Amino acid sequence: VKSDPDNYQLSSDVFDAQAFLTNVWQKKACVFRGAFKNFCDPLTPDELAGIASEAGVDSRVITCASGDANNKALNWDLQHGPVDDYDQFGSTGWTLLVQAVNEHFSPAQSLLRAFRFLPDWRIDDLMVSFSAPGGGVGPHIDQYDVFIIQGEGRRRWQTGAPGNYAATCPHPDLKQIEGFSAITDDVLEPGDMIYIPAGVPHNGISIDHSLNYSVGFRAPSQAELLSALADYALEHDALQKRYTDDTSDLPAEPWLLHEGAVQRCKTLLLEALDDEQLLLQICAKVFSTNPRPPLPEWPEEPVNENTVNEWLAQSEFVYKAIGLRMIVVDGFVVCQGHWFASDTNVLNLFHIINDAEDGIESAQLAKNMSTKKARAFIAGLINEGLVFN
Ligand code: SIN
Ligand code: CO
Repeated sequence: VKSDPDNYQLSSDVFDAQAFLTNVWQKKACVFRGAFKNFCDPLTPDELAGIASEAGVDSRVITCASGDANNKALNWDLQHGPVDDYDQFGSTGWTLLVQAVNEHFSPAQSLLRAFRFLPDWRIDDLMVSFSAPGGGVGPHIDQYDVFIIQGEGRRRWQTGAPGNYAATCPHPDLKQIEGFSAITDDVLEPGDMIYIPAGVPHNGISIDHSLNYSVGFRAPSQAELLSALADYALEHDALQKRYTDDTSDLPAEPWLLHEGAVQRCKTLLLEALDDEQLLLQICAKVFSTNPRPPLPEWPEEPVNENTVNEWLAQSEFVYKAIGLRMIVVDGFVVCQGHWFASDTNVLNLFHIINDAEDGIESAQLAKNMSTKKARAFIAGLINEGLVFN
């Protein structure tokens, strides 16, 4: 029996989510043989090439001239997509990588559901790669945790010890490391999966023509969170408290920036984070916003709570913008940083839209539009260009 591409499940005898989270997650690399029983690829290499050729899809082809990523003396190169002639790469030593395939090919979305032992908002995207024999991206380190599922074909995966490796960039967009030495070395077959924590060096070399599905996680850095905080504060005139002097602790010389002043700035900054409401705003903004901004489709005319039902009646189906991200915060639904007060209807609507892989039946939405909050929610999404018909 082949796996059901509409409903991928991690095999419970191979992958125990609780044990994984306790012992492996963000600690060490680990191979799970037969993680997906009788794995059935959600797409074919041709479909992947088709997706890579669509406008707005981020793809690249990485080649290593010797045709064998095992060979040390390699001549690496990278070409951004869309690529129309794959023949130029020959039969070995290249790989096509396509970012955010889940957003452009909804059947691939169902693979991500297998990872719901972690919150949806931790996931960045599903990257899919097709590699010719000997193809790979070379030894490198990622800043993010990743699960790599082996689809058709076999691929050899090596992982090494975390550390400070010298970087080497054969192309400005291809960052590899020098001195990689493998500690683990496994050949993955269809349905096998490797988990690689952020910071663990690795190298994947295709043995056959193979497909790989990388479930990548997002983890904002302090810099990103602080930048979101600053953006919010400037937009809303928040955090206006200013530096004050401690007259008992002025610098000995007037040109000196003394330790006491630095500490008072630190206190001022730390106090900014004491505003729990503000903190929630920032986190909700960051995690409800797709790093690849959705392409909005604005309505011809704005709708409001009184006209939204009429708008819904115009067409049998409505659609959500590619990459729309939504999260639930106590009492609210937040979509791409826009807050909507919620009630039972709004939560129903949230689930219908969030789970939709394709067109959404207008009638399904219409059933949940009896409250003012529900109408404001849908009207808001339409006016932001995030839901359209
Ligand atoms: C892939 O080639 O499918 C994944 C590349 C990687 O990040 O190791
Ligand atoms: Co990687």
